Amino acid sequence: MNITPSLPSFLFLLVDDIGWADFSYNNGTALTPNIDAWAKDKNSLILQDFHSGGTVCSPTRATILTGRNHFRDCVDYVYGCDDMSICVPDFEFAPSRTFTVGDAVRTAHPEEYGDYGGAYFAGKWHLGSFFNDSEAYGGKTSSPLVHGFTKMNATVEVAPTATTNCQCKPEWRKDCQFGHYDGPNHCSPDGRCCFNYWWDDPLSAHGVTNLTWPTPPDDSLYLVDAFSRYMAERAQQKKPFLAQISFHNCHIPFIASKTAKVRCAKGETCRPPDPGSPPYTEKELDYYGCMTELDNAFGQVIEALKKHGYYDNTMIWFASDNGPEQNCPPDGICKKASISPQRPVEGPGSAGPLRGRKRDIYEGGHRVAGIVSFPPLIQGRGGMQVWETVVTFDFLPTVMELLNQTRPPSQQSWALDGRSIVALLKEPNNFQWNNTKEGPRSFGIGYYDPKQIISNGWGYRWGKWKYVQGSVSCNKKYCRKPQLFDLETDLGERHDLAEANPDVLRLLQQKFREWHASIMKSRQEESKCQKANLPLPLPTFMSEE
Ligand SMILES: *[C@@H]1O[C@H](CO)[C@@H](O)[C@H](O)[C@H]1NC(C)=O
Ligand SMILES: *[C@@H]1O[C@H](CO)[C@@H](O)[C@H](O)[C@H]1NC(C)=O
Ligand SMILES: *[C@@H]1O[C@H](CO)[C@@H](O)[C@H](O)[C@H]1NC(C)=O
Ligand SMILES: *[C@@H]1O[C@H](CO)[C@@H](O)[C@H](O)[C@H]1NC(C)=O
Ligand SMILES: *[C@@H]1O[C@H](CO)[C@@H](O)[C@H](O)[C@H]1NC(C)=O
Ligand SMILES: *[C@@H]1O[C@H](CO)[C@@H](O)[C@H](O)[C@H]1NC(C)=O
Repeated sequence: MNITPSLPSFLFLLVDDIGWADFSYNNGTALTPNIDAWAKDKNSLILQDFHSGGTVCSPTRATILTGRNHFRDCVDYVYGCDDMSICVPDFEFAPSRTFTVGDAVRTAHPEEYGDYGGAYFAGKWHLGSFFNDSEAYGGKTSSPLVHGFTKMNATVEVAPTATTNCQCKPEWRKDCQFGHYDGPNHCSPDGRCCFNYWWDDPLSAHGVTNLTWPTPPDDSLYLVDAFSRYMAERAQQKKPFLAQISFHNCHIPFIASKTAKVRCAKGETCRPPDPGSPPYTEKELDYYGCMTELDNAFGQVIEALKKHGYYDNTMIWFASDNGPEQNCPPDGICKKASISPQRPVEGPGSAGPLRGRKRDIYEGGHRVAGIVSFPPLIQGRGGMQVWETVVTFDFLPTVMELLNQTRPPSQQSWALDGRSIVALLKEPNNFQWNNTKEGPRSFGIGYYDPKQIISNGWGYRWGKWKYVQGSVSCNKKYCRKPQLFDLETDLGERHDLAEANPDVLRLLQQKFREWHASIMKSRQEESKCQKANLPLPLPTFMSEE
């Protein structure tokens, strides 16, 4: 039964709205023994300067698939959609069909990955409608099957972490668990709401079908179950695979089982509250319990990979899609993750010492948990923390390098933000971007809410330096101005060095402008976004300076 395909397999495990400092390997409150043990394994690297390519859900999901910043492929903001047929009519994701990581594996070795099941997507998609005939309803088909995957078992967007589809049928509603929310959360205002799982089914009316029985109370186990059966099939065929599991844990509404909450409160699966602090609130217990459930599910994924003989030749990436909820005005300096009635704005997640949280340009918005394992390259030299910059969009170029794959001729000149981390995996102790011929690692990041231009923000990273202009959590006037931080000495972004280092600031602003111009070019000439010519949020305040 054990098989060892000669070609590697690839697994991207994406978790949701979990902060940099939420896992217990980074001093988090919920104990995550399975994730910690794998993170510290000699064939794994804990990437402490790991970033989600966006600061919210849909944008980061696009970056994993395309190796590019999400604005290049028209994903400006979160995709809200509760109607499967129409969805958001003007939502676009890569309308010119940007080459994706699914395409990369299938076209590199069609005989191995290119068949019906070679690229699998499970969980939260959030990049468009599943109906293959959405166009007939005024929408646009943009399912995993359109973007390089060949099989899916997915929800169209966010879903609760318990009894996910309980509102899909009147007779299932009695089982709905709303936790501390006491009611549906993330549902349309008119009450229509059905978070269901869908999969490819050529015999169904719209090319997909949905689940006709209720989901279990632990959504992460549903996903592991679906993935494990998929993997067993691949093993039987002795074929490698590429798969992504996008867990709903622990986006709101996060709801943990009673057992998980009780065990946390008793201190079995959680660190106790700080001395002198009140017991954990219901909301905190739900969050930490959700982390425990995720950790159990993670343990089962690793077990299944080992059982089927894949583990030793699978490159696994584990990451969060952005920082934790919620923002912390007025300046983005968030308190420790304790929730109390006095601090209603913060969620239980923790970005630790970082400034800001989800949506922020400050590190807390996008510096997230990131771990990679791959025995064939790391060869037992891992098991430590690495502080070189890695971003979700590095996944595609890394997979491509491992398969000696290139993009199709028509897209070879298209901008790519990601860089392969193969050299880092080979030399985790010595590798430095700074010493490569391209020089210090750089990337741009932006948050753009079309309805709230005022809260938008932009940033640019170059080696240890970071330029920030605008960040949702900071509504003070100075936050609209260009700020400059040295992340090597000031991880928490507390000391603005813009005045002290005007030359560095100018250099980063120049690099930012060039990057922004290349984003606009991608929108206009590559993806050909409908909204390509809108003045993509080059910070208006930047030109006012
Ligand atoms: C975790 O705590 C230890 C001991 O206090 C500290 O040295 C380490 O820097 C902390 N890690 C993070 C990521 O905060
Ligand atoms: C959608 O899928 C169904 C079932 O495979 C097929 O009959 C139909 O032609 C497809 N429609 C489009 C627009 O591709
Ligand atoms: C989704 O499932 C429901 C039953 O729960 C069914 O009535 C509906 O037709 C399904 N939709 C599609 C497109 O298969
Ligand atoms: C999707 O996953 C669920 C849960 O594991 C499973 O019941 C269902 O059969 C799966 N669908 C397919 C096509 O594998
Ligand atoms: C990629 O190329 C290298 C060097 O030519 C070779 O050793 C390796 O086997 C190739 N890998 C794949 C997956 O084709
Ligand atoms: C590159 O590395 C050198 C030596 O470690 C360091 O002094 C310099 O600040 C680095 N450059 C950047 C842009 O981070």
